[in-house]
Amino acid sequence: MKKASVILDKDYVIGDIDPRIYGSFVEHLGRCVYGGIYEPGHQTADENGFRGDVMELVRDLGITVVRYPGGNFVSGFNWEDSIGPKDSRPARLDLAWFTTETNEFGLHEYISWCRKANAKPMYSINLGTRGVDAARNIVEYANHRGGSYWSDLRRKNGADEPFDIKLWCLGNEMDGPWQIAHKTAWEYGRIANEAGKVMKWVDPSVELVVCGSSHSQMPTFGDWELQVLEECYDTVDYISLHRYYGNPTNDTPGFLARTMDMDEFIKTVVAICDSVKGKKHSRKKINLSFDEWNVWYHSHEQDREITKRSKWGRALPLLEDVYNFEDALLVGSMLMTLIRNADRVKIACMAQLVNVIAPIMTQNGGAAWAQTIYYPFMHASRYGRGKALNALVSSPKYDCTDYTDVPYIDAAAVLGDDGSLTLFCVNRDMNDDYSLELDLRSFGELSFDEHIIIHHDDVKAVNTAENPNNVVPAMGPGGYFESGRFIAKVPALSWNVLRFSKE
Ligand code: AHR
Repeated sequence: MKKASVILDKDYVIGDIDPRIYGSFVEHLGRCVYGGIYEPGHQTADENGFRGDVMELVRDLGITVVRYPGGNFVSGFNWEDSIGPKDSRPARLDLAWFTTETNEFGLHEYISWCRKANAKPMYSINLGTRGVDAARNIVEYANHRGGSYWSDLRRKNGADEPFDIKLWCLGNEMDGPWQIAHKTAWEYGRIANEAGKVMKWVDPSVELVVCGSSHSQMPTFGDWELQVLEECYDTVDYISLHRYYGNPTNDTPGFLARTMDMDEFIKTVVAICDSVKGKKHSRKKINLSFDEWNVWYHSHEQDREITKRSKWGRALPLLEDVYNFEDALLVGSMLMTLIRNADRVKIACMAQLVNVIAPIMTQNGGAAWAQTIYYPFMHASRYGRGKALNALVSSPKYDCTDYTDVPYIDAAAVLGDDGSLTLFCVNRDMNDDYSLELDLRSFGELSFDEHIIIHHDDVKAVNTAENPNNVVPAMGPGGYFESGRFIAKVPALSWNVLRFSKE
């Protein structure tokens, strides 16, 4: 057995963990909405058509915010299409995914669904084909109490109380040439500033997320953030980051090291935000919204085929990645990367929620089940609340194609408000179990509560409708105390949650 250690101190605090880092994302794409969260006629559907089996899985997952309605979809979306009587809402061609959107599920349904799921709304406005006028109108519709055209229309449509949407995204991935009405950094920075300005005039309590680069490999990454923030620094509150990873060459050690890139991405964006702050002599800090992240590659080939065959279809099975055990390990490491950057990452959304690159899968008219990646998210959301601690990890390291000095042991620690302590940890070693020594002397008396692990002998093992419990959490081997240290055993290739409470 190999050895590694982690030194923890209750006073080595990185920052408060904003519960909004356990957010999710629902886009009008594929079967995320239709056949996912919404399926009237399904045997578990409620009076709104919300699937009850999905709702139960969503609640257990513990999502805190839901970004909606896109994604690429939002850049061609007219929000007014999604309100009023369902039978008079128009069906539109969606040029983002080459499908047809019926608007049967719209703004009011989204708000009701969020309330039922105990999650806060995070609404994206269209800064592709639309602009300042639509932006101010939807804030008036959603958040103004009454006595004006749009707020009274909301009341007429059945919602007397304002929706009180606090978090708003100013468009989506506007640096990407694939985006409907893609813009240059200057064009986007200007419209984001003007739209954001009037949105805050209508409701000064809203918080705004401006689009950063679509990902860190974009040729314009860095320059985009700089130019956009130059235009709208005083208006916005957060800048977005998006990142997906894949393992198309079947290189597990290299795949599990991808969070080295994610961490660098975050640190680079923080540096850019702070450089603009310095240049502007501003006292305001821009924080980060990592509002799309996940593994995404399994479904690429299938999607090319579907799109070729059925242009303009409805609720096609697009982006339906079936996740395996190694994906769950990377997702665990991505969650730990967010926790370790809790001082600046205040919002994050795993993309997406159901069927579309999602922790939850469904069959139309049939079952719903949890994919492998569901479980690390559930653990992080459940036990990763409080303060992120600086975990000083000392571990053997490895080199892979893109990175050198990758620690086999990846860890993050969280101090709960009740004095509890949780250590999350991924053992990236394909062959060796580790004896992990946790130095807990600064915490006084702690009792060991439980060790949860996820492990499977096959890195490609998946959960399916027929076999939904193939990759699930189990009780781990735990450990023992020795002179203020806790010695735990963490098996080769495993996700671990070690929980302690104050005596
Ligand atoms: O989440 C799927 C897509 O990925 C989103 O629509 C877009 O924002 C990103 O490119």
